[in-house]
Order: sequence, then structure tokens, then C-alpha cells
Amino acid sequence: MRTQVGIVGAGPAGLLLAHLLDRAGVDCVVLESRSREYCEERQRAGLLEQGTVDLLNDLGVGARLAREGLVHHGLALRFEGVSHRIPLSELTGGKSVVIYGQTEVVKDLIAARLAAGRDFRFEAEAVALEGLDTATPAIRFREHGREQTLTCDFVAGCDGFHGICRPAIPEAKLTIYDRDYPFGWIGILSDSPPVSDELIYVNHDRGFALFTMRTPHVSRLYLQCEADEDIANWPDERIWDELRRRLGDAPELPQGAVTQKNVTPMRSFVAAPMRHGALFLAGDAAHIVPPTGVKGLNLAAADVRVLARALIAFYAERSPRLLDRYSDVCLKRVWKAQRFSWWMTSMLHRFDNHTPFERRMQLAELDYITGSRAGMTTLAENYVGLPFEDL
Ligand code: FAD
Ligand code: PHB
Repeated sequence: MRTQVGIVGAGPAGLLLAHLLDRAGVDCVVLESRSREYCEERQRAGLLEQGTVDLLNDLGVGARLAREGLVHHGLALRFEGVSHRIPLSELTGGKSVVIYGQTEVVKDLIAARLAAGRDFRFEAEAVALEGLDTATPAIRFREHGREQTLTCDFVAGCDGFHGICRPAIPEAKLTIYDRDYPFGWIGILSDSPPVSDELIYVNHDRGFALFTMRTPHVSRLYLQCEADEDIANWPDERIWDELRRRLGDAPELPQGAVTQKNVTPMRSFVAAPMRHGALFLAGDAAHIVPPTGVKGLNLAAADVRVLARALIAFYAERSPRLLDRYSDVCLKRVWKAQRFSWWMTSMLHRFDNHTPFERRMQLAELDYITGSRAGMTTLAENYVGLPFEDL
């Protein structure tokens, strides 16, 4: 088998890249180790920046998003029992964000690619990359119990944090920057309306909580927990009690049937550079952010926007000029997103090792950010998404 760009992974990064390349007439094949059902049901991110929404519209896959997405013009930070609204749109010249589950983005992208009859293989697991230093790299993959080889010009490593592409780069060629946080998040999906039309981020002595949503009838709720929390210790009633305590006496929290429950570790991670020879890493394969800053999926989209432009330019001009800039251009945005995600995480969570002085600093920072137009603007412009870097 042969193609121009071999894409490993059908998460948001791989799917968006495939659509961008298809549209420009660059041939690609997507290999995904999991089943279609698994990819479409995996609960993850929920909030899209304007730039990500624009990209989906631009690709012609934004119709359902326009109908079902919930546009948000503000959010609340809640601390010491009081909510403070940050008017995102007013502070950013009219920008907004949209609640639309990653599951739905993935469903729309998969359906559109299959409808176009493009090469897309589920349950096709990449097992090794070969010849990354040559002009004809290859992906060895296993499909229906048979090993096959896909030869290509370039490999797009869109296979997430636990994939095989990043580990295919020699250790000495990669610098890893990382930080683990001493806590995780329990996340539930509940058949109950959101407590508020806008997201509420809560800093509480008992720990962080986040009240978000998927639809007007389905809530997504998170609680800070131990890093290695055993979900078995958290029956539904305990989760609802804890959510109510951390929310405090805001409006009463509607309660419904819990349909999903999981624990997410909190981590900041960057592997640089994001390229090795013919291999280009994009999305979680190259970087992870704690979800407090809502940047994970949005960064994946920003990476492949740059990668698609560079690959398309390569085939149009036969020049590697833009490909050579890929990693530097992406990393500028990645580091700013890392900083914002780390800052939001530091400001909003409970740290067991904090001294009373450090706890007061955290509250003073929240008080400053919510009480000053400059403070609110700094949060708002990062939250809705910084402008794209030019290639
Ligand atoms: P992924 O979505 O991970 O996609 C990678 C794909 O590659 C997967 O489909 C995988 O099956 C496939 N794959 C892996 N190995 C192989 C192989 N060898 N061969 C073929 N295919 C392979 N972000 C937020 O902003 N908010 C959140 O609330 C949030 N919650 C999250 C919860 C969890 C549990 C996780 C893991 C992430 C969460 N994120 C969140 C982050 C966000 O979901 C990711 O940043 C986003 O999914 C990145 O997209 P991606 O395409 O780079 O990677
Ligand atoms: C979500 O809706 O899942 C979500 C929203 C905002 C975050 C994290 C997760 O910061």
C-alpha cells in the first residue's frame, strides 16, 4: 500500500488533518487501532474555541455543531462562596466558545470522511514506523490479524499520548518537559440539566469543582480527587454530596442518573521538537495539558491546521520550507497554552502542601483577576483562544 501522508490515529488531530488534506487533493490513509463505536463514545473534552469552530465550519462539517452547540459568552469563577462572572465576549471583541462534545466532533468527522469514500481503517493498529530518516518511510500495521505495510512520503503521528509514534523518535533527539499534579479529576455525565447556563469553576477549601454540560438536559461535572483515586470509593451519592458542598448555596444542583464516571490524571507534558525526519507529531502525541484551561482538543486542531498548510505547500511548491517551520510555529502556541492551563490549575485547585500564606495568595489572585478588567481580560483572551501563529 502507498499514500502521500500516513495518518496514525483517528482522534480530533488525525481526523481534522485527513479532512484538510482531502480538500486540497493530498492523498492520505487513516489508521485507527480502536473500533468506530469506541472512538465515537470516548468521553473527553467539551468546549471548543472559536478557531476550532471556524475550522469545522470551513471544512463543511459544522452543520450539526451550529444546530446543537451551546454558545457561551461568559463563565463564572466561584470562591469563598461567591460567583464572579467573566464576560468573555465583551472582553475579547465578541469572541465566544461553544459546548459541543468531542464525541460529537469525532462522529461528524468520521461520518463525513466515510461518506466521501476515503481510505479509513478502524481496528488497524500501527505497530512500528520504519525509515523515518528516508524519503520513503513506512508504517507497519495489523489489520484483521494480518500485518501490512503502508509506504508514504510523511507520517502524521496523531496517536495520542499513549501511541507508538513519539516513542519511535530516538530518545536523544527529543526533550521532554513535564509536570504531574498531586491530584486528578473525577468526571461524571448525568441526565440532568446544568445548574447554570454558563460554566462554573469553583475554588473551595475541600477542592476544585467544575459544573459544565453537554446539552440543556445533560450535565458534565468534575471534582478534584486524589491522583490515584479508586473510582470504586465514589458511589454516586458521595459524588453528588461533594458536588453540592463545593458548589455551596448557589442555586440547587439538579440531580439525575449518572451514565458515565471516570478519573482523569492531571499532567502537563511537552515533547520537542514535534518533528523527526518524515514524522510529524500532532495533538496529544506531542503535548498534554491539564483540562482546567480547555486547551487539549483545541491545541490538537491548531497543530494540524499548521501541518496541513505545510504539507499542502510541500506538494504545491516541492519545497520543505513550511515543513521545516512546523515544530517551532506549533510550539509557540503550545507553550502559551501550557502556561495558561498551568496557571488556571494552580489558581483553582486545593494543594495539600500549601501554607496558609500560599492559600491567601491564591485567594488574592482570584480576587484580583475577577475584580480588575485587565485581570479578567487576561483570563478571557487565553480562554477563548489566542490568535493563530503565522506560518
Ligand atoms: P486522541 O483523541 O487521544 O486520539 C488518538 C487516537 O489514536 C485514538 O483514537 C487512539 O485509539 C489512536 N491510536 C493510538 N495508538 C494507535 C496505534 N498504535 N495505531 C492506530 N491508532 C492508534 N481536553 C479538554 O480540553 N477538556 C477535557 O475535559 C478533557 N478531558 C479528557 C479526558 C481524558 C480521559 C483524556 C485522555 C483527555 C482529555 N482531554 C480533555 C484532552 C483531549 O481530549 C485531547 O487533547 C484530545 O483528544 C487530543 O486529540 P488527539 O487527536 O491528539 O488524540
Ligand atoms: C467539559 O465540558 O468537559 C469541560 C469544560 C471546561 C473545562 C474542562 C472540561 O475546563
